[in-house]
Amino acid sequence: MYNYYPDELIEEIRINNDIVEVISDYVRLERKGKDYFGLCPFHKEKTPSFSVVPGKQIFYCFGCGKGGNVFHFIMNAENLEYIEAVKYLADRAKIQLPEGNEEDTNKARIRRELININTEAARFFHQNLISGKYTKAMEYLVKRGITDRTIKKFGLGFQPEEIDILYRYLKSKGYGDEPIQASGLVLPGKKGGFYDRFRGRIIFPIFDIRGNVIAFGGRVTDSSLPKYMNSPETPVYSKSKNLYSLNFAKNSGEKQIIIVEGYMDVISLQQNGIINTVASLGTALTESQGRLLKKYAEEVIISYDSDSAGQAATLRGLDILNDLGCSVRVLTVPDGKDPDEFIKKNGAEEFRKIAAKSVSLIEYKIADLKKHVDLETTQGRLSFLNKSADLLAKIDNRVELEMYSKKIADDYNISEEAILSEIYKRINKKAGNRNNQAMFREIRKDEPEQDVRKYQSIIHNERMLIAMLCIDNNIYKSVRDKIGTDFIDKENERIFKIITERIDNKSGIVPAELLNVIEGPAANVFASIIQKECNFEDTYKAVTDIIKKIENEKNDIRKQEILSLLNSKEGLSEGDVEKLKKELNSIILAKQKS
Ligand code: GTP
Ligand code: MN
Repeated sequence: MYNYYPDELIEEIRINNDIVEVISDYVRLERKGKDYFGLCPFHKEKTPSFSVVPGKQIFYCFGCGKGGNVFHFIMNAENLEYIEAVKYLADRAKIQLPEGNEEDTNKARIRRELININTEAARFFHQNLISGKYTKAMEYLVKRGITDRTIKKFGLGFQPEEIDILYRYLKSKGYGDEPIQASGLVLPGKKGGFYDRFRGRIIFPIFDIRGNVIAFGGRVTDSSLPKYMNSPETPVYSKSKNLYSLNFAKNSGEKQIIIVEGYMDVISLQQNGIINTVASLGTALTESQGRLLKKYAEEVIISYDSDSAGQAATLRGLDILNDLGCSVRVLTVPDGKDPDEFIKKNGAEEFRKIAAKSVSLIEYKIADLKKHVDLETTQGRLSFLNKSADLLAKIDNRVELEMYSKKIADDYNISEEAILSEIYKRINKKAGNRNNQAMFREIRKDEPEQDVRKYQSIIHNERMLIAMLCIDNNIYKSVRDKIGTDFIDKENERIFKIITERIDNKSGIVPAELLNVIEGPAANVFASIIQKECNFEDTYKAVTDIIKKIENEKNDIRKQEILSLLNSKEGLSEGDVEKLKKELNSIILAKQKS
């Protein structure tokens, strides 16, 4: 598998994908000293323990222990196999891969052509709208209070009624039937030919994060149905992976992003100066969208409709974002209005006020609980008390927990002691379970596999040695005679062979390159060692110390083995005993010398 592409090519791809740049597409990184830190994309956390080391081109999370080079990051972040990650990053760095790339360049060509078609169509739609020829569209937007500036900013447009006016326009620009159809802008007619999908609709182009037109939404100008139509999934558009208007919202300079349901909500809020808004466009928030939000915002405010569908979507969205480690709140617009209606009626200041009052996940969930029980009955109150205790027991911060408990006790007129006592029952039970499990593990570990543990330290030091040799290739020359070729861990032995070969043939090897030849959990361990344990002033001394340690540890183990053999004497000849004693002597001597 490692030989799928030549090592030098893999290394060229790695070098041309700066790890800070690549990871910045997924994580908000902040510089601290010589490293960068951010919220780990691989586990849930609220304070950054995910580090990126530009100097060594590795990442490592102090929280969950994931680490590696840029390939391992992409494998984890995009859920790819090693080879796929290599292809992905080759593509990103515009490096040609020798084989199997025909298909890939073909895909890239198709994507480019679809973006071109979409861009051409968006211009066509926009021209139609502002041409003054289709008054009904413009009148509708004016009626809804949309300004010319907003129309321009969002590239709004109009698709005329004529059956295939867009299709013909695109043909005149030289595009073929196949790509035009693939764009989703036209549909094949029953009797051959094509007709335009969005006929008679106001057009909302959907942009990706870089501002490419990737899809469209179309709204009727009256009360006919369906109210909206959207582009289908295409090679350039996946509705679950994009958020409407994130291209604008991400530059708002705010720490929060507000997610709303519809095109018109976003447009109206942004027109009123609330730029940090995006829409999930009628779909429930997905995990990919959650990751996008987490990247660009410290906190997400969900403001969906207050109807039951909207509330169900809110609960799902809360869980998705919370599981991603994203701080999240809920903004309920009063009187069942949507954000567009509210801001039109009350203005931006009032909207900011209600946004500042948006409630936390816990408050929202408890308010939601209350809707489903009758607090007038004893049973209802009991059920409410139990279910809120379930929720509150998950808060890991004591102060926060007690603050919420007090608030809920006040709000719902229940006794604070009662709720606290229920919460602590749950917390203690959880802690009890954890302790039991820990004890259980301890016992099982203690019994059989002493061996694993006694070798663990050696295996770790072997890895230290390998990492240090990659950090300073020159050391190898002066210590090579001191290093045995016999590694306790066979994977370490394989890696050691590779790196010493590269040092010997003068191509050399750096730590991130070392990670090119390591896959799976071992990559995490090596990244951890490189990040946390290899910061020595005197690398030469460090390496010789490690070598000595390995030797001593091996000798200790051997000494124990010999002693126990000599003690039992089972099946040993006189000669064997002599030999063992000699070996024991030399071990003891070696120890005295060092
Ligand atoms: P306005 O009625 O123009 O204010 O629309 P809105 O933006 O407030 O949308 P609404 O809250 O009615 O719906 C939210 C989002 O769901 C819309 O922006 C669309 O993306 C989507 N949506 C609404 N109606 C339809 C529909 O009939 N078909 C499809 N495919 N999507 C819809
Ligand atoms: Mn609306």
